[in-house]
Amino acid sequence: MDKIVREYDKNNQVDSWETLIFLYNAALKEVSTKLDILNDEFQNVHRYNPIEHIKTRIKTPESIVKKLRKQGHEPTIDNMVKYVNDIAGVRIICSFTSDIYRLAEMIGKQSDLKVLSIKDYIKNPKESGYKSYHMIITVPVFLSDSVVDTKVEIQIRTIAMDFWASLEHKIYYKFEGNAPEYISRDLQECARMVWRLDERMLQLNEAIQACLEEQEKQAAGGAGKDTDKDIEKDTAQAEKSE
Ligand code: GTP
Ligand code: MG
Repeated sequence: MDKIVREYDKNNQVDSWETLIFLYNAALKEVSTKLDILNDEFQNVHRYNPIEHIKTRIKTPESIVKKLRKQGHEPTIDNMVKYVNDIAGVRIICSFTSDIYRLAEMIGKQSDLKVLSIKDYIKNPKESGYKSYHMIITVPVFLSDSVVDTKVEIQIRTIAMDFWASLEHKIYYKFEGNAPEYISRDLQECARMVWRLDERMLQLNEAIQACLEEQEKQAAGGAGKDTDKDIEKDTAQAEKSE
């Protein structure tokens, strides 16, 4: 580790595969901690967790090189840093679509993070049926004598969107991108079912919240009456004893 940081300091640029992976791993740790804190704060204030779970991953050397070649770039360290935005990836899985936007807003407000780009595939789903909210951000990684803004791709989606995307990804790979028409059509139909399910779940959750609030209000109202009675009783007793 020491060697890597020293190598980095010497040239003040990422000059080896080890340094690259070290930086992206550090960036993933920074972002994961931030998300944990946001989730805990939300739980503390609203008694509710917007995040179901988080997955992080570093892209394999093979897929980094494959991506660069596809873009027509030589597989150099410089090109990896410049052109591959998803070497470090964080996937946040939420329960409801509303949580996605809540989280995206909270991430955008973190003053040390820079949002480089946003792709909202929830408002504009891909032709495949894919839905997800993507952000490319940079997070500062503090080294012994320098700070390196490091890119991280954040994908935010619901459990249902994740279910669909995982299956679609497997099928896509099985057919190497050339799935028969009827399978693609079936997947698109499943995507629409997933969107409807997400909508229903969101509505159901809102109905549950409204119902609970109403019950709380009634309970508080009831308790209020008791309190009033208690005060009346106390006053009467006080008057008697005077
Ligand atoms: P990539 O070269 O695939 O990274 O795409 P991009 O640079 O154009 O970015 P985009 O935001 O479109 O996609 C980034 C990532 O989103 C992909 O690597 C996948 O993880 C995911 N993704 C995008 N489209 C699809 C899709 O149709 N199906 C599935 N399952 N995942 C997708
Ligand atoms: Mg990718």
